[in-house]
Order: sequence, then structure tokens, then C-alpha cells
Amino acid sequence: MLALRGRLLALADRLVPPQAAVFDQSVGIARTQMLATVAELGVADELAEGPATAEELASRLGVNADALHRLMRAMSLSGIFKLDRSGRFTLGRSGQALRSDHPLSVRDWARYFASRSNSDAWADLTETVRTGRSAFPRVHGRSVWQWFAEHPDEERMFAGGMRAGTLQDVPFIVGGYSWPDAGVVCDVAGGVGTLLAAVLDARPGLRGVLVDAPGVLAEADGWLAGRGLRERVELTEGDIFRSIEAKADVYLMKNILHDWDDEACATILRTLRAAMPEGSRLVVVEYLQERNEANLIASLSDIQMMNVCDDGRERSAEEIQALFRAAGLRPGRVVRTGGPGLVEGLA
Ligand SMILES: C[S@@+](CC[C@H](N)C(=O)[O-])C[C@H]1O[C@@H](n2cnc3c(N)ncnc32)[C@H](O)[C@@H]1O
Repeated sequence: MLALRGRLLALADRLVPPQAAVFDQSVGIARTQMLATVAELGVADELAEGPATAEELASRLGVNADALHRLMRAMSLSGIFKLDRSGRFTLGRSGQALRSDHPLSVRDWARYFASRSNSDAWADLTETVRTGRSAFPRVHGRSVWQWFAEHPDEERMFAGGMRAGTLQDVPFIVGGYSWPDAGVVCDVAGGVGTLLAAVLDARPGLRGVLVDAPGVLAEADGWLAGRGLRERVELTEGDIFRSIEAKADVYLMKNILHDWDDEACATILRTLRAAMPEGSRLVVVEYLQERNEANLIASLSDIQMMNVCDDGRERSAEEIQALFRAAGLRPGRVVRTGGPGLVEGLA
């Protein structure tokens, strides 16, 4: 989907002078911030009730009517809102995705991405390229994960954004792999359990174990209960660098290795390997990045990993398999889907 959009945008850029295309790209920060502001204020939720003027919305939201009108007018250019000649706004087709009740809502993600901690790290990208080291620890004096532990509101926005992103990938992951009908699947650093829940929904005979940090597990407790899955999932506190106490037939690790450099990945995989019974499998789920092939999702995500995570990177299947071998796992199948790739390691 995004790849097609990217190709169409690249095609559109060929119709205008290069400086116009680059100028438009250079103001991306304005779009990021405008989206975050309407997401934070809950404008899309207000408009779900029906068309309204900025004055009406502003009195409900407690903000300045003129500023809101100007913001929403600018955002009508990209289809988030529609503005009629009488000054009434409606939610545009893409604006629907900013509603909190949209099944794949981007509201949390938009807020997280523009958060000061993330944008301050992005502002230091040049230094990241000079040094090859991630900006986030340099700018904030701690890793992004430590930051989240100290800023639970931001952690919730990030987790909400991850949840929506994972839900988009679920059909590829659940449909792309031969999940067993019975036994135990463990999602390592699985967030609130979005992917684990989808796998358990698809295989009613499976049980689950969810490993993550305590704050995230507390959130998972309520989330899984709301999905009617709490009874089938054991919540296990674990530190992927120290110890994972979970016995399973299949271990999942989605969007984890890309957060870290090769050395840290080796520690994570060795920690997991120590927990894995002989004959069990690990399925690493990541957007695969070939060295000399730009990919609309993987190549941009790679910059977020390089700049904001701990010297993280997107990798090819072969690079992930090399990490497996170093940790004592035998490479198994590689499944390439229309979304992320699934790379299997055998214990
Ligand atoms: C990028 S999120 C991925 C979440 C989930 N796998 C998904 O794809 O939606 C990374 C996860 O790693 C967890 N995490 C980070 N450091 C960890 C650690 N040392 N031990 C356990 N979990 C950790 C975070 O709490 C977060 O849930």
C-alpha cells in the first residue's frame, strides 16, 4: 500500500520542477506537528459528530478559534479535513484514521512521533551521521526505553502507535506462517500482546506467554482481558539482556532486533537461546532491508532505528541469520510476505 503511494508521489514529483518537489519535502516537520496537534486536541473525534466551524470546535475544545481555523484550513490541502465556503469543516477520508475509535487509529502514533523527545532526537540527525551513533541517548542521556519507563504517557502513545502498526501487519504474519494448532507461543518483548492475541485468535488450541517490562505488562493485563484472552496468556516479566524465563514451542520476536546493534542483538539472542527448549523455534518478524535496495517502509524505519533507538538498524534475512548462527541457532525458513519478513531460527 505505502509502496504504491510512494511510487505515485515520486511520479508526481516528476511533473514539477525539482526545487518545488524538494521544497515541499523540506517542510515535512510542519505536517508532522500539525497532525500531532489535531491528534492531541482530539479534533477528529469532535468532527465525528458532524460538520462544524472552527468557532464551534474551538469552544468545545477550549482553544483559539482563529488559530484552529487556520490550522485546519492548511490541513484540508492534504485531505485530513474538508472546508466548505461557509467555513464548515468535515473529516476528510484520511482524517478518519485520526479518530480514536478507528480500528487502525494513527492518533497515538501521530502524537508520539511529534513528541519532544522524538523530535529533539531527530533534530540531531546530522551528528548521528557524523558519528554513526544514535541521537536519543546523546540528546537525552538515556535510552528511549529508559525514557519511556520514566514517562509513562509517552510510553502509552508509543505502545498505542505500535499496536496499530502491528494490527496492519497481522494478516501477513498470521497468514504467512504455519503456526501450530497446539502448544505454547511466547512473544518476547511483545508489547501489550497485539500480535500474540492475533495468533491465539487464529489457533484456539494454542496458549501464550507474553514477556516484556513490568509497566508494559500491567497495560497488557487489561488489554488481553478486554479481548477475552487473559486466561490463555501467562504474563512474564523479563529482561531480554539478562534472563527470559519462558518455555514455549515457538518464540516470536517482532520489531525487537532492529532496535539494537549487532552486539546487543547477540546478547538478546543468547539470552533467549538459553531459555529455548531443544526443538523449539524462534520467528523473527522484521521489515527486511537489503543493502542496496531502498524500501519504503524498511529504509525509513532504518533511520528511526539509527537515530532514536540504540544504534539499531533494519537488516536483511541473511544478516539476521548470521546473528542466529552466532547465538547457536540454526537458520530455518525465510517467509517473505507483502508486509514484514519472517525469519526462522531453530534451537
Ligand atoms: C518496538 S517495541 C515492539 C513491541 C512488539 N513486539 C510489537 O512489535 O508491537 C519494543 C518492545 O521491547 C520492550 N523492551 C525494551 N527493552 C526491553 C528489555 N530490556 N526487556 C524486555 N523488553 C524490553 C519494550 O517494552 C517494547 O514493548
